[in-house]
Amino acid sequence: MRTVTVGVLGSGTVGQDVLNLIKRRESVFTDLGVKIEISGVLVRDVNKVRDVPPGTRVTTDPGFLQECGVVIEAMGGVDRPLEMLLPYLRSGRPVITANKALLAERWDVLREYALAGSLYYEASVMAGTPVIGPMSTVLRASTFTRLQAVLNGTCLYILNQMEEGRDYADALAGAQALGYAETPPTLDVGGFDTAHKLAVLARFCADGNFPYSAVQVEGIEDITQKDIQDARAAGERIKLVAELERDGTGWRATVAPQRLPENHPLCNAGASRNALVYEGEECGTLIFAGGGAGGMITASAMVGDLLDWVIGFPGHVPLH
Ligand SMILES: NC(=O)c1ccc[n+]([C@@H]2O[C@H](COP(=O)([O-])OP(=O)(O)OC[C@H]3O[C@@H](n4cnc5c(N)ncnc54)[C@H](OP(=O)(O)O)[C@@H]3O)[C@@H](O)[C@H]2O)c1
Repeated sequence: MRTVTVGVLGSGTVGQDVLNLIKRRESVFTDLGVKIEISGVLVRDVNKVRDVPPGTRVTTDPGFLQECGVVIEAMGGVDRPLEMLLPYLRSGRPVITANKALLAERWDVLREYALAGSLYYEASVMAGTPVIGPMSTVLRASTFTRLQAVLNGTCLYILNQMEEGRDYADALAGAQALGYAETPPTLDVGGFDTAHKLAVLARFCADGNFPYSAVQVEGIEDITQKDIQDARAAGERIKLVAELERDGTGWRATVAPQRLPENHPLCNAGASRNALVYEGEECGTLIFAGGGAGGMITASAMVGDLLDWVIGFPGHVPLH
C-alpha cells in the first residue's frame, strides 16, 4: 500500500466536500493500492464550525504543503493561491484546482505546468459535469468549429426569476439572499465568471495560448423586464451566452445576453443547470448539461482528478 499525502487549500463549500468525498471513496483508493493521508487543510479562521471528517487538521499555517505529494486548491482568488502553488508546481508536483479565475487570469505562468500534465482542473468549468476531460482527450480528433454555453448559475437564476415577473434588482437581491450571488455580484452578473470559463475552454478548442483579455464581455445588468417579455412574446428566452467561433483566421470569444429560441438546447437543460453545445466537423453537435455549482458536485470532479493522478493519467493538457 502506497501512502499519498494530500494538502487542501480551503475548506468552504467545495473544500469541505472534497474532504468528505475522499473519505467516502476510501475503498476505491484502497483498491488502487493507495492510502490517502490529508496532511493539512488551510483556512483563514480555525474557529469556524466545519463539516469535515473527524480529526482533520485545519490550520492557518501553510507549512504542511512542503510535505505533500499533491495539493488540492479550493480557496479561490488569484494572487494568493498562485503565490502558494508556484513553488510547489516548480518542484514538479501536481495541483488539482477548481479555480477558473486563477486559470483564466494567470495562464501566462500556469500554461507550462498544464503542458507538463501537472494541472488538473475539470471542476473549473461546469463543476462536476465533464467538459474539460472530453475536450482534452477524445474531442481532439475532431475539427472544432463552434461552442455556445450557459455557464453561470447566478445569471440563470436571475433571468429565470425575471421571467416570473420580478425586476432585475429584486431578482438579484433574491439570489444574494439565497447565497447564490456574492456581494458585490459583479463577477457573476457582469459576465466575468463566464468569461473566465470561456477562456479556459478556448485553450482546448481554439488556441492553447488563448488570453483571457481576448474575451469580449457584457453582463446582464441592463436587461429589463420589457426585454424579457419581448423575447417571450417571440417564443424566445434571454440567456447569458458564452460563444466561441472562427473569425477570419482567428477566433471570436464573447460573453453576452442573447435571445435564443425556447427549444434551443441551452434553454432546455433545466432551470438551474449549465449547458454547452459543442460543434465539431467530424463529431457533429454534442450537448453537455448538468449541475455547474455546489459543493459535492464540484468535489466529484476534483476527487475524480485525484483518482486520475493516482492511476497515472496526466492533467488537462491544452492545445499546443
Ligand atoms: N462553490 C461552487 O459551487 C464552486 C463551483 C466550481 C468552482 N468553484 C471554485 O472553487 C473555489 C472555492 O469556492 P468555494 O465556493 O468553496 O469558496 P468558499 O466557500 O468561500 O471557501 C473558500 C475557503 O478558502 C479559505 N480561504 C480563502 N482565502 C484564504 C486565504 N487567503 N488563506 C487561507 N484560507 C483562505 C476560506 O477559509 P475560511 O473558511 O476560514 O474563511 C474557505 O475555507 C473557487 O475558486 C471557486 O471559483 C466553486
